[in-house]
Amino acid sequence: MSRVNLTRLRQMKAEKNKIAMLTAYDASFSHVLEQAGVDVILVGDSLGMVIQGQESTLPVTVDDIIYHCRNVVRGSHKVFVIADMPFMSYANEGQAIVNAARLLAEGGAQMVKLEGGAVMASTIEQLTARGIPVCAHLGLLPQSVHRVGGYRVQGRDAETAEELIRDATALQDAGADMVVLECVPAELATTITNTLSIPVIGIGAGSDCDGQVLVLYDMLGLTPGKRPRFSYNFLVDTGGIESAITKYVDDVKSGVFPSLDQQY
Ligand code: KIV
Repeated sequence: MSRVNLTRLRQMKAEKNKIAMLTAYDASFSHVLEQAGVDVILVGDSLGMVIQGQESTLPVTVDDIIYHCRNVVRGSHKVFVIADMPFMSYANEGQAIVNAARLLAEGGAQMVKLEGGAVMASTIEQLTARGIPVCAHLGLLPQSVHRVGGYRVQGRDAETAEELIRDATALQDAGADMVVLECVPAELATTITNTLSIPVIGIGAGSDCDGQVLVLYDMLGLTPGKRPRFSYNFLVDTGGIESAITKYVDDVKSGVFPSLDQQY
């Protein structure tokens, strides 16, 4: 059975068929997510926090992502698999090419994701010219947590909103095939989604994005501490892991999730 591919994801955007994406880090959850109808699995560097118990995503290595990505790929047959590029693994174009190639060749991912705005355009050009599909992560950038002083909503004023629209367009022009938009006002996310021809996946970015992503352990209520406003514990209403994930997929596809309470 062949996996979901970029052509299918673009077609879903064109047909306004919402893309359901979740993170996963192992074969068992990968299988459950696929059975529940998840289209895309992200092997996120969030694994640093939810698997390794680190305070941020910064200590995660390329080897960590490869290990978890291989497990996710072994547990699934149909989903599209994206691997996160860890902090500083794409600090220059040479490193980006070597590390992204490892994530595809050794990890088995179909796409890599990296954080940053227009400054990443030439890196994305270099990767895509070599056949490596790239998802650009914009808005709240967890790898820059120390620079921005915490996890905050981005693009609230006209100037930063304009900058995000420019960044998104520049990265699409550089060859990015997908954008993840994290923690931005819903209205701005709608503009970016309508401006771009590539799929835009939101997390805390309103319901008009082409798809949604959440950290698996957040949506199962396992992450300790205060749950981010944009997340929701799907286990509470359903009482079982499989049914919680199926409800997430159904709610994303029908536009029920995220609700107004879960957006900015
Ligand atoms: O690492 C991750 O899980 C992510 C999501 C929050 C989009 O980047």
